[in-house]
Amino acid sequence: MSAPYVPTPRDIAFEMLKLANVKPGEIVVDPGAGECGIITLAVTIFNAIGIGIEINPALVRSCIESFEKLGLRGRAYIVWGDLFDFDYSIADVVTLYLGSDINEKLKSKLNKELKHGARVVSHDFEVPGWQPINSMIINGPFRTHRIYLYII
Ligand SMILES: C[S@@+](CC[C@H](N)C(=O)[O-])C[C@H]1O[C@@H](n2cnc3c(N)ncnc32)[C@H](O)[C@@H]1O
Repeated sequence: MSAPYVPTPRDIAFEMLKLANVKPGEIVVDPGAGECGIITLAVTIFNAIGIGIEINPALVRSCIESFEKLGLRGRAYIVWGDLFDFDYSIADVVTLYLGSDINEKLKSKLNKELKHGARVVSHDFEVPGWQPINSMIINGPFRTHRIYLYII
């Protein structure tokens, strides 16, 4: 079970963070962060603290380079490792773009670890068995995207 690297377009990432109502100082976690596009947006535009988790070392390096370039030291972090090993209790908001099978597998961990009121926002793939509290359809330049918001 794995999700290939396909970045969430910046406009869609913006709508995800807006839908999740990310507030300054909140902790946004992106499991499977890719090149950390969502994390850098959360930190630079929403003034959040961002934590990405990424298994591919080349993508981890890209994250570090973009944090350096944007001067985000101390506000944006990347963990090199498996998203199933992370403890999500720290998160206020979790962003997902992983696939239904990984969402299904991650669900019980998120249910167990996330604090009451934490928000989960997922790009294109629902979390099977969870009822979204809100959702949006966004027309991108190449296709239509769906985002789903859940509150724990
Ligand atoms: C579809 S991309 C999403 C990237 C980013 N979240 C975004 O929306 O722009 C999925 C990412 O998850 C990473 N990934 C897949 N399985 C993983 C795992 N078990 N632990 C950590 N990262 C993983 C892949 O390397 C890939 O970069």
